[in-house]
Amino acid sequence: MTPDNNGYVPGLEGVIAAQTRNSRVDGLAGQLTIGGFALEEIAPRASFEEMTFLLWNDRLPTADELAAFSQELAALRELPPATLQLIEDIAAKDLDYMDALRIAVGTLGLQAPKIDPDPWLAKRLVATFPSIVAAAWRLSQGEAVVAPDPKLGHAANYLYMLEGQAPSEARARGLETYLNTVIDHGLNASTFTARVIVSTASDFVSAIVGAVGALKGPLHGGAPGPALDMVFEIGEADKAEAVLRSKLDAGERLMGFGHRVYKVRDPRAEVLSGAARALYEADGDMELYNLVQQVEKTAVALLEEYKPGRNLQTNVEFYTALLLHGLDLQIALFSPTFAVGRVSGWLAHCIEQRADGRLIRPKAQYVGDNGRQWKALAER
Ligand code: ACO
Repeated sequence: MTPDNNGYVPGLEGVIAAQTRNSRVDGLAGQLTIGGFALEEIAPRASFEEMTFLLWNDRLPTADELAAFSQELAALRELPPATLQLIEDIAAKDLDYMDALRIAVGTLGLQAPKIDPDPWLAKRLVATFPSIVAAAWRLSQGEAVVAPDPKLGHAANYLYMLEGQAPSEARARGLETYLNTVIDHGLNASTFTARVIVSTASDFVSAIVGAVGALKGPLHGGAPGPALDMVFEIGEADKAEAVLRSKLDAGERLMGFGHRVYKVRDPRAEVLSGAARALYEADGDMELYNLVQQVEKTAVALLEEYKPGRNLQTNVEFYTALLLHGLDLQIALFSPTFAVGRVSGWLAHCIEQRADGRLIRPKAQYVGDNGRQWKALAER
């Protein structure tokens, strides 16, 4: 998008609005760098606690540091009774899980230390995101809330609190790789929101509440559900071409394909497809995985035929759907689970923005009228 003659760029597309050491998105080469590591190098290996430490400290932890950091996070997982009560009220009202998350997160500042609250709040927010989502989920299913298990790692404990039993190693690893993969992604809308709020010298809870609100919007957090529906609608590999053609003929978009920044295959799709493969192999049922591969191949070929030169490739959401479905998460949990991963990245940006200290305050181009004359109410 080219700026008009006043420098206005709709959607700030291409505008550099911050400097960061957290992640680098190269949409033409299809590369994502997180904390200096290629995504595919680190996401399948690191624990989520390690990734979080990396982003917040700009280096990997030593074994002792990781053990201490993981312990600190685990000790902060339990929700205050007032927050739990609030989640119970929200669940009774049948609210969306992202609404539950946004409302409950707002209560987390109540116990923050008055002096130097940022480090405590950052850990508290990361530690409690899974507790809030799992509590809202269990209560909405008419089940009792499961207390966190401090012996389990962050990802495994999230599955434990959702399901009431400790997950297999393969399932915990599958979720951990997902959380690592979505932990940060340049200056996306929710991250920008968090940075703007911190730049006013506001607190971390306010920043994260705002970020959750931004992520909730369907243009940001939400295509994996429809992508999964599309795969189920296709059902069998030899129906893929006919179903996808009928969608494209009807002018519909294929969910899980195309991206504003990536013009080649989204590197996150590769990492998530690898994680999904390992998970489905461990379960001994490759049927859905194989169908998804076939749907992907057919979709990419048809998109080139229908939209030549547009470079519409597989995006992160397509394999998110397969992986999270393989972890038995319901579609309603996909966006809040994305938030469970992204909150560490949001906070990494909050920490950076705090150090930067510069108020983010761009200008608007005025396109309204001038010189209007006031008329009394009776004369309008
Ligand atoms: N299926 C069919 N056609 C598509 C698709 C698609 N998935 N994506 C783009 N196109 C077409 C558009 O219709 C347009 O065609 P036209 O110029 O003939 O009208 C052309 O390709 C370019 O599309 P844009 O809208 O300019 O692409 P943009 O960069 O704005 O959109 C987006 C990116 C929103 C992701 C788009 O590709 C899309 O809607 N994809 C499907 C939804 C999806 O998967 N969203 C998740 C994205 S990943 C994330 O946000 C985390």
